[in-house]
This record gives sequence, structure tokens and C-alpha cells, in this order.
Amino acid sequence: MKEIIFATKNKGKIKEIQAILGHNYIVKSIEDIGIDIDIVEDGKTFEENSIKKAVEIMKITNKIVLADDSGLEIDYLNGEPGVYSARYMGEDTPYEIKNAKILEMLKDVEEEKRGARFVSVIALAIPGKKPITTRGTIEGIIAYEMKGENGFGYDPIFYIPELKKTAAELSLEEKNKISHRGKALSEMKKILLYRKVLVFSDSHGNIDNMVKVIENFDKDVFAIIHLGDYADDVEDELRNLYTDKLFYSIAGNNDFISSVAQDEEIIEINGHKVFLTHGHQYNVYFGIDKLYYKLNELGVNIGLYGHTHRPSAFFENNILILNPGSISSPRGSSICTFLLMDFLDEVTYKFYGIFKDGIKEIDC
Ligand code: IMP
Repeated sequence: MKEIIFATKNKGKIKEIQAILGHNYIVKSIEDIGIDIDIVEDGKTFEENSIKKAVEIMKITNKIVLADDSGLEIDYLNGEPGVYSARYMGEDTPYEIKNAKILEMLKDVEEEKRGARFVSVIALAIPGKKPITTRGTIEGIIAYEMKGENGFGYDPIFYIPELKKTAAELSLEEKNKISHRGKALSEMKKILLYRKVLVFSDSHGNIDNMVKVIENFDKDVFAIIHLGDYADDVEDELRNLYTDKLFYSIAGNNDFISSVAQDEEIIEINGHKVFLTHGHQYNVYFGIDKLYYKLNELGVNIGLYGHTHRPSAFFENNILILNPGSISSPRGSSICTFLLMDFLDEVTYKFYGIFKDGIKEIDC
């Protein structure tokens, strides 16, 4: 199981993110790993602050780090307290006093002008990669009086019209489901868990190696791409075995041609558009020029193809073209190969081969 550090000392936040990430990661606080520093939140946006926290701790630990920054924006106060929510009217001022003051400032303001939202931004810092953020909000209005005993901070004055309750009148489970932090964390979960994709091609009616590979990467992988020449029944068997995975398949050109798959397809993963083709339409045996022009024409910067049974990688003018090779039927003495792609904001990939003594990364 992978370890992930959440740059907070707040045990409540650790519990919350652990509940959302489930058994895929162990979430640790910075205290758990023996770090005791206070990072100054001097950014002007939630994004700046959360990135700063995540990156500083990532640099110390050289591990994957999450950090959050949140606050309350009140329209009538031009978005205040915003990033200053914790420090507003003084860090140590009790929230009964802060909340009472806000109610006083908005005493005569009619309902339409009492709009407010809680905002949460989660930043992810991975060594060697650009940090990424996700943002969640919940809209409400500032109530006319404090209500409710649950929650913390500004919850008693934050009224959610659809629920006819303040945030402090919700149970923790109810709040997590709809809260700004819950939403930002769920988006982050997608990035953390649902970004790795296995790419196969030319299995030629043989399922064994694909099963071996999927078993090996199971938890990390959310989708499986097959670039043609596979046979429908094999594909069905695989889909039935791994019902939690997404399958993208396109047709090939020979005996194993699918009767159901499309010839070509553009799919989107984490914001990246990916063109899938078997490749014979572009004469890829003789080079990938035609495919390269097609990607340019489509305005897509990732193209995946098969057909040649030879793993290969090409990158030029921001266009990435990859061929995983064949997973079951390599030509000549070559080994069975496949690709593992990682769709962060920058796409990375690794080629693997299946050897007698296991699955190993190969150069390509
Ligand atoms: P931080 O994200 O831990 O820096 O907290 C920012 C501040 O925003 C908190 O101290 C609260 O004042 C406010 N805040 C953020 N989320 C909530 C919430 O869910 N309920 C009430 N207040 C919140």
C-alpha cells in the first residue's frame, strides 16, 4: 500500500481524506512522520497557499504530499475573509465572536445579497512533477443568526438553502458528502487513483498475458486500452473478469478483427485527448508520417497505435505517438510487450516486457 502525506497537523482532516481514499493509500500527517514546521500562508489565493505547503513538505520528504487551504468567501464583504479565514479578526479570537461580528456587519442586508461559499483547494506535489490542484465549493448564504452545534469555524452562520440548515446542523457524514473539502478531495482521488492506464495491442485471441499484467498492476490501473486485433470473446472475458476497470478497444485488421469495436476513437483521460487506432489505415509498417499528420489535423497530441508488433515511442512538436508492441504474439525472437501510461498534467509512460522470471521495464 502506498503512503501519502497530508501537510496538516489536523487529525480530523487526516481521517476525512483516509475515508475518501479508502484502502489504496495510507494517509499520514506531518506529525506522524516527525516533521514539526509551520509554513507561512502568505499567498493571495487558496491555490498559492496549498501548493506552497505541499511543495515544501515534498521537498523535505521526497514523497507524494497533499495539502489543503480553505476559507469562507462572503459576497457582501467582497470575498472576505477568503484566504484570511483562520486569521480574520485574530487567529485566537473565538468563532462565537467572529461569527457575531459578521452577523452584525450584515444585519440589514437582504437575503439576495448574503451569498457566500466555502472554498477548498487541495494541492498534490509529486517529486519531479508540476504540482496540481483541485477545487471544491459549496454555495450558501450568511444566516441571520447562529444555529447548530456541529462542525467548526463559520459553520453556525453558513446557511444552505436547499437543506434549510446551517452547516453546523449537519452531521459529519452529511457535511462530508456535500462539503467543499469533500468535493475537492473526491476530484483529487480521481487524479491519484484514476490516472494510470494499461495499453495493449495485438493479443490475437490470447488472454493469458493480459490477465498476468492486469493482476500485477491491478490497484494502480483504472483503464485498459486495446488497440486492435484481439477477438471479441477474449475482450468479453477480460471485461467480465475486471468489472471495476474501464475498457477502450478499437478494431484491428486481421482474423481477430472485432465485430463490435469502432475503427478509431478519440478518448479523454484527465483532460488529455488520446487518439486510438490500430494503425494499418496509416501504413504504419512503413513509418508514422500519415498518423502524425492525422493527429495534427485532429488537434490531438497523443496517438496510440499497434499493428507492427514493435514497441516504439515518438515525440515531436508536442505530439506523442506510442506503440505498445504485441502482448501475445511478438514477431521473431522479440518478447511480449505493453505500455503503462500515467496521465498527470504531463503524460509519462513506461514500456514493459514479459520475461520468464517476471514483468520488467524495458528501454524503447
Ligand atoms: P485552513 O484551510 O485549515 O487554513 O482553514 C481555513 C479557515 O477557513 C478555517 O480556520 C475556518 O475558519 C474556515 N473554514 C474552512 N472550512 C470550513 C468549514 O467547513 N466550516 C467552517 N469554517 C471553515
